[in-house]
Amino acid sequence: MKVLVVGGGGREHALVTKIAASPSVSKVYAAPGNAGIAKIAECVPIDATETIRLRNFAAREGVDLTVVGPEAPLAAGIVDEFGKAGLPAFGPGARAAQLEASKVFAKDLMKKHGIPTAPYRVVDSLALAREWAREVDLPAVIKADGLAAGKGVVVARTREEALATVDRIMKDKAFGTAGERLVIEDCLEGEEVSILAFTDGQSLYPLESSQDHKRALDLDRGPNTGGMGAYSPAPVVDDAMMRRIIREMLIPIIHAMHREGRPVKGLLYAGLMLTADGPRVLEFNVRFGDPEAQALLVRLKSDLVEILDATTNGRLDQVSIEWDERPAVCVVLASGGYPDRYDQGFPIQGLSTVEGDPDVFVFHAGTRMKGSQVVTAGGRVLGVTALGANLGLARERAYDAVKKIRFQGMHYRTDIGLKALDR
Ligand code: AMP
Ligand code: GLY
Repeated sequence: MKVLVVGGGGREHALVTKIAASPSVSKVYAAPGNAGIAKIAECVPIDATETIRLRNFAAREGVDLTVVGPEAPLAAGIVDEFGKAGLPAFGPGARAAQLEASKVFAKDLMKKHGIPTAPYRVVDSLALAREWAREVDLPAVIKADGLAAGKGVVVARTREEALATVDRIMKDKAFGTAGERLVIEDCLEGEEVSILAFTDGQSLYPLESSQDHKRALDLDRGPNTGGMGAYSPAPVVDDAMMRRIIREMLIPIIHAMHREGRPVKGLLYAGLMLTADGPRVLEFNVRFGDPEAQALLVRLKSDLVEILDATTNGRLDQVSIEWDERPAVCVVLASGGYPDRYDQGFPIQGLSTVEGDPDVFVFHAGTRMKGSQVVTAGGRVLGVTALGANLGLARERAYDAVKKIRFQGMHYRTDIGLKALDR
């Protein structure tokens, strides 16, 4: 089989690694890929959002399966476009991708179907948003409706912050049209977890649990990011909690989307807060989490391509998934300044010193080649991922590798997985 992976981040490097290891795969392409992916796949210089060029490429090369990593091309309809050309692609169509691409749509649907989520209101004008920002109980969570690379959510703790946030999104248009509407919702307290499931639109097959670390700094301080690290499994999700999440959240949303004529195909990702009153949905995504995918996929023992292919072709019932019992930890190394403005093009030192250990994986995110040197090329640069006999050992192994890698401005969290370890 020939497989094309769309995207060029750490999640895609992890996907390409697993896909390239499948015995049924003869060739892997990535568009656009990155410096790490280029070592195991043929990188094609087409951006992930160039749907038509990607479709033409896949048709020309006889690609058997396309796997879409990021949300933007899904929301733009890449899977529909491939479908029209008879090209199988793993992921939902544009109408189903609205579950992730519009927080207003997702919240309204959850409310309609009684899926537990934070109480909220929608505002669609700056005047109304300012009015709410002046009155809302604090802390409050302010979310741009549309896609904002994980950065469109602010937990406002002060009145000034709430007002500044609505101005930044609605007046200064920090996220463009994604900020034309806002969701303002109650701030929930608890531990966050990510539950992912393969789905063919009607049935689903859950993956193991994982936990992301969204804030930029240790102890969950600083601004929200795309994710600074992850581990899997998350011990806070015991079997009873997992069953509850599947029953109260995953199955109802799959059925709701199906009834709306928007079947979710591919991957359903529920970002949840485990509150004292039970689990609540923070958001649904329709793709693998990044960096959750890195921590999950190194634990996957089954053939990923078989699973993706079966999901895409309506054979999810034939799938059975086996996991490495060992926990995995992924530590993201980010550019100085991320998630705000950062410089790039800095040489990355020490990569060769962490090669060779079969339980350590350095997934590239924002990297590219400059001559023979790997340099930084994005906010999140690397995801250093390790397996260990227990979570503590996985952490140690990951951080040992982190200490051997350097680039100018590099920053990372030192507490990935610590909460679970303390448990
Ligand atoms: P979202 O993109 O909606 O998942 O939001 C991004 C991040 O903001 C989440 O992962 C949480 O850390 C935080 N967040 C979102 N909604 C809430 C909420 N209602 N209460 C507390 N934190 C939230
Ligand atoms: N790690 C969070 C996300 O992928 O949305």
